[in-house]
Amino acid sequence: MQVVIVATPAEVGRLAAAKIGHLVRSRPDAVLGLATGSSPLAIYAELTRQVAEEGLDCLQVRAFALDEYVGLPPEHPESYRSVLMRDVVKPLGMDPSNVHVPDGAAADVAAACEAYEARIAETGPVALQILGIGANGHIGFNEPTSSFASRTRIKTLAPKTRADNARFFGGDLDAVPRHCLTQGLATIMSARHLVLVATGTGKAEAVHHLVEGAVSAMWPGTVLQHHPHVTVLLDGAAAGRLQLAEYYRQTYLAKPAWQGI
Ligand code: F6R
Repeated sequence: MQVVIVATPAEVGRLAAAKIGHLVRSRPDAVLGLATGSSPLAIYAELTRQVAEEGLDCLQVRAFALDEYVGLPPEHPESYRSVLMRDVVKPLGMDPSNVHVPDGAAADVAAACEAYEARIAETGPVALQILGIGANGHIGFNEPTSSFASRTRIKTLAPKTRADNARFFGGDLDAVPRHCLTQGLATIMSARHLVLVATGTGKAEAVHHLVEGAVSAMWPGTVLQHHPHVTVLLDGAAAGRLQLAEYYRQTYLAKPAWQGI
């Protein structure tokens, strides 16, 4: 696991976007894993700039979302399908038919989850998966006690996650769905490169467990300690509880530029 600590959330976004831009330039139909929420917004903003100013072409990029709410119609402005179309697909000039989101409105949820897994298996592997992390340590919506062997399935959102996400629903907790479909931890682990971004003091405890804690289903992100290629990009606040922060800083400074992240 490579831990990179930089000064600002914008710098976190720039580093991740530089890696993604490089990947798409070398493989125009690369398969990306997309996260929603606040953490990846700086990445999408920087990629949008690369599209506008540097001619980055994302038309052939294929992508899979990590998760989707259950109980919101797909056209709801806060469904993850809508959010991704608005914040990623449109600004990056991607082809919407190349972008897949679990079907949170499906009548047969189990079949929808199986179909999603099958599509990832057909199209994948995901070359680079963007991840955020919940304050309770979830990745995707794999809440504490999720199985490390889990695949795409329905989950009940933890009270902390619903409270944190109420900000996207005008602060109205009752408007936040109670269930979601999420890629499982094993699904996420099958991506080639996992790039997790976290900023702000609210993530410091989860980041501490993720990087330096014991591997435990109580902190689902700790499963990443078993993945051979993980990059954790943090600002100083999110890195605030890391015991070896100075070591990570020195390691990154000493890294040859050609290695990138
Ligand atoms: C979103 C997702 C979640 C978020 C996490 C952090 O697709 O899978 O794991 O990454 O809840 O959310 P933010 O970035 O809003 O703090």
